[in-house]
Amino acid sequence: MEIKNLHTVYFSATNTTRRVVRHIAAQMPGHKEEHNITGVTLETDIVMDSSDLLIVGMPVYSGRIPAIALPVLSRFKGHDTPAVIVCVYGNRDYDDALLELNDVVEANGFKVIAGGVFIAQHSIFPKIGFNRPDEKDLILIKEFAENCRDLLAATPDIALLPEITLKGNRPYKVPGSLPLHPKGNKDCTECGTCVKLCPTQAIAPETPRKTDKDKCIACARCITVCPVHARQFGGVAYKMAGSMFLKSYSARKEPTIFINR
Ligand SMILES: Cc1cc2nc3c(=O)[nH]c(=O)nc-3n(C[C@H](O)[C@H](O)[C@H](O)COP(=O)(O)O)c2cc1C
Ligand code: SF4
Ligand code: SF4
Repeated sequence: MEIKNLHTVYFSATNTTRRVVRHIAAQMPGHKEEHNITGVTLETDIVMDSSDLLIVGMPVYSGRIPAIALPVLSRFKGHDTPAVIVCVYGNRDYDDALLELNDVVEANGFKVIAGGVFIAQHSIFPKIGFNRPDEKDLILIKEFAENCRDLLAATPDIALLPEITLKGNRPYKVPGSLPLHPKGNKDCTECGTCVKLCPTQAIAPETPRKTDKDKCIACARCITVCPVHARQFGGVAYKMAGSMFLKSYSARKEPTIFINR
């Protein structure tokens, strides 16, 4: 089948999911439309048909996809539209995230033809998965994209493709609460960038060094976007969790691909 339009959709607080999704999209034919849904709300649906392809990427948050992304994700509706689902995680585990993404996408009228799970630098503990995706990852991401492209080109009708079997369980893992929240230091120039880009409005314009702990989801976007590196995680709990992560999750994990051919 011929793909005329390629829609990429992603939530990406610290831009690694965006990087992976863009690398996949770069190998695909068709007119490209990118939807960055980080901190975004949509008032109307975006409807696709069988000549479209959806590539959707989500980071793994506590073994799930970010709850904050779900209302926006449900605005993308398919009608016999093929979808490639992608999760990006920080070298611990992706638990039920890919399965959850599959279920959300299929409930919205898409047919999932392939899933890929890739590793990136951990956005809370950057020593874990440091500098990933690296060259080796990018080669595997490209190969995954080429396999998806070739599968679609060789398939006259996606209804003929068998269901893919993914890792994960239903009911999904219940995410624990994360008592880690970045805050600003004396280098803050009160430029307002983090205030504008925080997806949960957890930083007030009058007090950009502070963080509303009830609203913050620990996504680390404020750290990534601050032009003077004035926001960071800190405190005893963060240091202890960091040591535990380093001990438990430093061994390199490799991408996992789910595709039926
Ligand atoms: C709140 C939160 C929870 C996370 N939970 C997990 C997890 O369960 N497993 C894991 O391996 N990585 C986890 N990570 C790391 C992210 O999945 C990883 O850094 C991802 O690349 C972030 O994507 P982004 O750069 O698009 O924001 C978590 C990160 C955050 C911010
Ligand atoms: S304050 Fe919390 S929710 Fe807002 S960008 Fe920073 S880490 Fe994310
Ligand atoms: S982005 Fe950095 S410098 Fe700008 S207000 Fe936020 S913490 Fe301050």
